[in-house]
Amino acid sequence: MHHFLPNGKQLVIRQPGIADAAGCLACFQQFTGETDFLLFTHEEAMKMDLKEEEGFIRSYLERPENLLLVADVEGEIVGIFSLNRSRFKKQYHMALMGLAVLHKYWNMGIGRRLLTAGIRWAEKHPQLTTIHFEVLATNERAIQLYRNFNFIEHGRIPKGIRQPNGDWVDLVVMSKNLKSA
Ligand SMILES: CC(C)(COP(=O)(O)OP(=O)(O)OC[C@H]1O[C@@H](n2cnc3c(N)ncnc32)[C@H](O)[C@@H]1OP(=O)(O)O)[C@@H](O)C(=O)NCCC(=O)NCCS
Repeated sequence: MHHFLPNGKQLVIRQPGIADAAGCLACFQQFTGETDFLLFTHEEAMKMDLKEEEGFIRSYLERPENLLLVADVEGEIVGIFSLNRSRFKKQYHMALMGLAVLHKYWNMGIGRRLLTAGIRWAEKHPQLTTIHFEVLATNERAIQLYRNFNFIEHGRIPKGIRQPNGDWVDLVVMSKNLKSA
């Protein structure tokens, strides 16, 4: 899918191939250093190498029930979106979502476009009924974005995150039912 950003640059939302491993790894390592809102710390992300990233992308190519999308701005990977179906039969209707965009590209509609593409993909899978995830309660920007897409907040896990500086943060549980209006 091709779009134009407010700065005039062209954005493509697409599934990555193995050749994108270096770009995906660079993006992942950069955004873990820019925000505390992700599960990975920057140190953990910096331990990942190209071979692991290639394996990560390959796992999506081999498991079409899962989805990995990248936001590609004129050859630079600036955002990553993932949906991972539960491996348990009893929860095969559930997909866990992940989303992040490089800081310099925030507020340009890239998160919204990745989410739109991911939800469209999920809606085409009859067995997949629910997208779910947990978001840090302090992550107002992300929570607002998810509300815009009618994700529902179900409650909080108190102290679900302990930041490297020792701060405790609650996690908000959110989901979207794909088969309701
Ligand atoms: C959350 C994130 C993916 C959003 O990406 P983005 O490309 O900036 O998103 P968009 O530009 O499409 O939309 C931004 C939305 O944030 C909301 N927003 C922007 N500034 C905000 C603010 N100061 N307070 C609250 N909400 C705000 C708005 O709803 C806006 O959507 P709208 O303009 O359509 O109303 C991005 O900020 C990010 O990567 N953050 C760090 C990683 C992260 O938190 N990932 C989510 C983990 S659950």
